[in-house]
Amino acid sequence: MRLQLVIVFGFWSFALQAAPPRAVTHTTQKGVVVCVSPPAADVGARILKAGGNAVDAAIAVGFAQAVTWPEAGNIGGGGFMVIRPADGQKPVVVEYREKAPAAATENLWVRGVQPLSHKAAGVPGTVRGMALAHAKFGKLPWKDLLAPAIQLAEGMTINDALARSLNQVLANSRTKNAEFHRVFDKPGGGTWAKGDRLTQPDLARTLKRIAEQGADAFYTGELAQKLAQEMKSHGGLITVEDLAAYTAQLREPVRGHYRGCDIITVSPPSGGGIVLVETLNILEQFPLAEQPRYAPRTVHLITEAMRRAYADRARYLGDPDFTKIPAFLTSKEHAQKLAATIDPNRATPSAKVAPDIPLVESGGETTHYSVIDSSGMCVSNTYTLENSFGNRVVVPGAGYILNNEMTDFNPIPGRTDRTGRIGTPPNLIAPGKRMLSSQTPTILVRDGKPVLITGSPGGRTIPNTVICIVINVVDYGMPVGEAVSAPRQHHQWFPDRLDHEDFAGFPQLAEALQKMGHIVAKRGQGDGHSIGIDPKTGLRTAAADRRRDGQVATEK
Ligand code: DON
Repeated sequence: MRLQLVIVFGFWSFALQAAPPRAVTHTTQKGVVVCVSPPAADVGARILKAGGNAVDAAIAVGFAQAVTWPEAGNIGGGGFMVIRPADGQKPVVVEYREKAPAAATENLWVRGVQPLSHKAAGVPGTVRGMALAHAKFGKLPWKDLLAPAIQLAEGMTINDALARSLNQVLANSRTKNAEFHRVFDKPGGGTWAKGDRLTQPDLARTLKRIAEQGADAFYTGELAQKLAQEMKSHGGLITVEDLAAYTAQLREPVRGHYRGCDIITVSPPSGGGIVLVETLNILEQFPLAEQPRYAPRTVHLITEAMRRAYADRARYLGDPDFTKIPAFLTSKEHAQKLAATIDPNRATPSAKVAPDIPLVESGGETTHYSVIDSSGMCVSNTYTLENSFGNRVVVPGAGYILNNEMTDFNPIPGRTDRTGRIGTPPNLIAPGKRMLSSQTPTILVRDGKPVLITGSPGGRTIPNTVICIVINVVDYGMPVGEAVSAPRQHHQWFPDRLDHEDFAGFPQLAEALQKMGHIVAKRGQGDGHSIGIDPKTGLRTAAADRRRDGQVATEK
């Protein structure tokens, strides 16, 4: 086998020992959906065919993946949906990020983060988010959007990727929750294989209630009590009051402009959009495309821009309802100042980039999908349980898995260290606060026409995966399939390390970067299911990133 993937379970990175696999692409004039889970992609295409718009399809895919891709698809987590209506007017972000329960305190993690605990769950946002998207933009009845997910929960044939994912989590000794095993263990014992039938009757009932009674069925009444009871008996924090108080928000997207393209991207409480725009603004100061994409200087400049934007992320970003986010972060002037600090031949040590943040010396899982309908309405949606299968707790009798998003808060007040732990104030835990995210669902527009819908999982690597895809398309003119397949890079300020995928065909590159002062490490990055649109012909090419699974499905 040409490709050897070693997935480090439960984390967002995986070792990739060969060149990234080629994306699978499909070109069409019609609506198209691309996501990690083939049966969910088919659901989205069916909704488009039935006359649904891109938002309808995105909602149906969101619920379907809660069934078909339980490591990240969810109703017990949260995320962000960027929507651009077909007329281009008033794009919005439907923000459905989880919130800290009222009982959460700043010092929750000072004795150590417990990612698989009940305490790690934030108040889920997905169901309210999908309902808000539907109320604003939906065309088909709500019930119709949940019907395919209900059917899949009643019984589905599993594919190889789902079998592998379930076998991995079930074999892991840290997966201890009895309800999780009751729901996902293979009946009769043994391991799952392609072609086996998975039934999730509790989840089907939960989805039916949401279909019949709307989002309130999840946030109030019996389902809310079930979750609160589970929390109470296991040291968790979420109460019925937390659930009843949860709201999703419509937020203004972060906007940017990069070499002729308008960028419409996620806003806080995700830092992804600001990091994306700030990094691209810095790079715009350099004639990047004068050198090849994988020339040492190109990779160096991209790394240096990323490093500086991530330092600002640590310093300034958090939930905008709690922290004032400075507007200058996405300004061209700020980018010019930062660009002027870049040495074109030498890595700047991260400790020098933000010396005002005191450093202490010491030693997941998400999924993204993209949709466009025949009218040109675009949806870019990333949602998550944080780690793979979240905190690996299933709410008894309700059949859904809980997130462990509370681990996205800065864990220890005041402690910022070289390992990448951040202790700055904007993202410390507070009751009702949303934890800072890196999710970066993004839409690019040129001359008023959409040209790219993209995003990725990958924790703090997410903005950088999107940056790589955008640069590949805008600076290097790559077709979307190539842009998605091309090796990626990541630098997040601390740890002061340039992570990169296998620079296949450029054997000297890593060595050249080391000579410039970079510490380099090889690892896989992201899963960026994207759609490129040719503004002249209107043809849409969807690219299923094959770093995980992934499928394109068209309206036909
Ligand atoms: O919101 C965030 O940034 C993280 N919770 C995302 C986690 C993630 O992407 C893990 N997956 N691959």
